[in-house]
Formats: sequence, C-alpha cells, structure tokens
Amino acid sequence: MCQQCGYTQSQWAGRCPSCDTWNSLVETVEESQAVKEKGKSSGRLYQLAKVKVDERGRTGTGERELDEVLGGGLVAGMVVLVAGEPGIGKSTLLTQVALKVAAAGRGGVRKSKESVGNVGKVLYVCGEESAGQVALRVKRLGAFGADLRVREGVWLFESTDVDEVVAKGEEVKPVLVVVDSIQILKTEALTGTAGSVGQVRECAQRLVLWAKRAEIPVFLVGHVTKEGSIAGPRVLEHVVDTVLWFEGERSQGLRLVRAVKNRFGPTDEVGVFEMEGKGLVGVSEPSKVLLAERTKGVPGSVVSVVIEGTRPMLVEMQALVVATQLPVPRRVAAGVDMARLQMLVAVLTRRANLHLEGSDIFVNVTGGIKLADRGVDLAICLAIASAFLNRPLEERVAAVGEVGLLGEVRRVGGLDKRIKEAKKLGYRVASAESGKSVEAAIRKLLKN
Ligand code: TYD
Ligand code: MG
Repeated sequence: MCQQCGYTQSQWAGRCPSCDTWNSLVETVEESQAVKEKGKSSGRLYQLAKVKVDERGRTGTGERELDEVLGGGLVAGMVVLVAGEPGIGKSTLLTQVALKVAAAGRGGVRKSKESVGNVGKVLYVCGEESAGQVALRVKRLGAFGADLRVREGVWLFESTDVDEVVAKGEEVKPVLVVVDSIQILKTEALTGTAGSVGQVRECAQRLVLWAKRAEIPVFLVGHVTKEGSIAGPRVLEHVVDTVLWFEGERSQGLRLVRAVKNRFGPTDEVGVFEMEGKGLVGVSEPSKVLLAERTKGVPGSVVSVVIEGTRPMLVEMQALVVATQLPVPRRVAAGVDMARLQMLVAVLTRRANLHLEGSDIFVNVTGGIKLADRGVDLAICLAIASAFLNRPLEERVAAVGEVGLLGEVRRVGGLDKRIKEAKKLGYRVASAESGKSVEAAIRKLLKN
C-alpha cells in the first residue's frame, strides 16, 4: 500500500504508480477485515459543550528544570519523546525521574481511585540495557536510589516487544512509564527490524494509543544517530505530544533540554543540567557555571548574554587567531554556526579593516552549548578582534548585539532581561548604543 495516497492495486515496489511517492523502505500493517470493521465503529462523536475538562492538572517529575520545560509538569496520558545523541544523559535523567516519581509519596502522578493500590509504581522498560545495568546506574546516582522503599516502586521490564510492554502496562498499572528506547522496540505485526521507520512509528503509535486510553504519562527515549540505519526521532515528532531535545557536548558538563514541540506548554523553554558524578543536577543559575572557569584579562575572551528559550544566560566566547600555514586559512566554529562565523570574519575584514586573510580563526563557546541567538555576533567580532590585536576587552563588559553586513551593530530583543542578568553577576552590557559600528565598538571596548 502506498504511504501517501493509499494506492493498493497491482503489485509494485518503489515509486507508487498512482502518486509517484517513493515507498520502498516503509512497511505497513495489513489490516484484517475484522480490525477494519471494528475500527469503523470505534470513532466517537462529542458535543464540545459536553466534553469533560480534566482539571487534575499537572504533576511534577521531581526535576524542577524538566518540569519547567514541560510547561509545569506532566499531564495524564502525555507522551514525551526525549531525543539526543547516545551518551548525552537521556537514560540518566529518566532514571532519576523514575526514582523521584516513585519517591514522591509513591504516587504523585495519578490520584484516581482505581490506582490507590498501586501508588507510585513506575514501569521502566529497559530494552537497551539489562535490569542489572539499570540497577548499577541507580546505585551510582546515590541519594534516592539508596532508599529501598523507593526502589520498590520502580519496576524494570526487560523487553523489546511493544505489545508485551503495553500488556505489562495494563497489568502493573503504573503512574509513569519510561521506554528506553523506542528504537529497540518492535511489533510482530510488521516484518521490518527494530529501528526501521515503520517499526519505530508503529511502536510509538501503539504506545501513544495506550497512554491516552490508560491516562498514564509516558517518556520515550529516542536516539539521534549520524547514519540513517536507525530511524531518528523526527519520524515520531507528529506522533507524540512533546519533543524534548538534549543538547550539549558529551565531554563537557552542561546539558540543555529544549522543548521543540509541546502540546501542553510553551515550546521555547530550556532546562539546564550539569552531568556530575552522581547524575544530572538541575542548574538554576547557568551563568555562574558558564563563567566559573573564566580567566580574566586575556585577549580573545568576551562575555555575552544570550537568551535561550525565555531565559537569559551569560556565556563566554573565545577566539584564537594564528598565522595560517595553509593556502586557504581555516575557520573553525564550536557552538556557533559556521556560515555565521564566515560572515562575521568577512565583515571584520572589510568594515573594520582587520587583515584576517592570512590567519586561521577558531571560535568557541565555553560550556559546550550551541547558540542560535544572533545577539552573540558582537561578542564573536570583539573576541576575534581582541585575539588578533592582542588587546583584552575591558573588564566586566558583556557584549550584546547583532552585526549586519554593513558592519553595523543592531539591537536585539530582550535587552532588559539581558541587562538584568548581566548585572546580577556584575557585568555591564555593551550593546548597540555603545558603538554604532563594529569598528567603533572595537575602538571603544578593547584596552590598549
Ligand atoms: P546515559 O544516560 O546512559 O546516556 P544516554 O542514555 O543518553 O545514551 O549516560 C550518559 C553519560 O553520563 C555516560 O557516559 C556516563 C555518564 N554519567 C555520569 O557522568 N554520571 C552519572 O551519575 C551517570 C549515571 C552517568
Ligand atoms: Mg541510554
């Protein structure tokens, strides 16, 4: 059957003879007649005025930063996809959530009558690891995991079969389900291997259906991989209610959890965590962490205030400029967009008369976070100029502003918020007012 138009006549593979959509790698479930007939009568019609509004509200996950990203906590039947590269901390975070939900009086999530006997049960489906491995991680996490009563509330289910998971969910009646990961699950109804587009989508759909029916919140872990052999979280974005992306460098401490889709809350919220020896710890003041190791008075280092989601943060931009050994000098960017860096270097060369043609340029955002905010342009320019001219920036100045192709510095949104955050840590914000052009800003802000 064609995924796009539903064309079923005649045998074909590859392009659909009807709508010409490429179909080859996607398997589908052949529905039996019985299922079709049952399906026909399962739809229900409601008059809007008579639909009951669920006012039970939200329940916390025990991780404040995560709750904020979710828009205040979990909603019954909500399915949340937690996506990120392997090793970034998805399992760690969700193990912590499992422990904390189990700990919260063993049953904070659902308060309906029928679940009284099962308060606080969390079902953790570990298809990827053995129960022993999860237990090892719990031991490492210390604190909550050490309490036997808490551990009694967490049920580990080693399985890779989605239908088995649903059946176990029905049996255990947990208040929260964690599936680690969706790519390891499969259903016998499809022929494809676990991790294929068809399997991942079908498994997620089955879990979503069940979650809605049982009114239980479900976390799905989804790996992002460079190769295409495993279907990525993008396949699932429309199936789930909320998509959280885990960002950060595996080798560095700070992790950002960003809501890119949220049916039950804002989408631009960001949660900040730090990976420590005992798991992920929520960071309420990321600016402090990001600037903690800053060496002052060194050329090439400039502080900026970015807004991630709705939250201002002080970050340090670093630049290194060295004479090149190559015919085409290198431009290397970590944490900022490469094309943006190329543009800013061009602006500096042409509009601020910095002769960067013969230099390799490296730019880095400390803390391993990735920035999309244009407000860091000025800081990048100042950092490069500072490194090139070997003159440090004035102390206690945070540079904020977008830089245009004419070499002009522009104001960016949320300036008040940025100024306030900078003030907290004793920084003064230099923005569009302090110099109308990058060149003027360089003259004004770099020490001699
Ligand atoms: P993990 O959560 O398993 O990542 P994912 O599920 O996203 O693949 O592990 C993340 C990394 O964090 C892993 O390399 C080990 C490390 N880690 C810590 O540094 N401290 C800890 O307390 C734990 C549990 C893991
Ligand atoms: Mg994992």
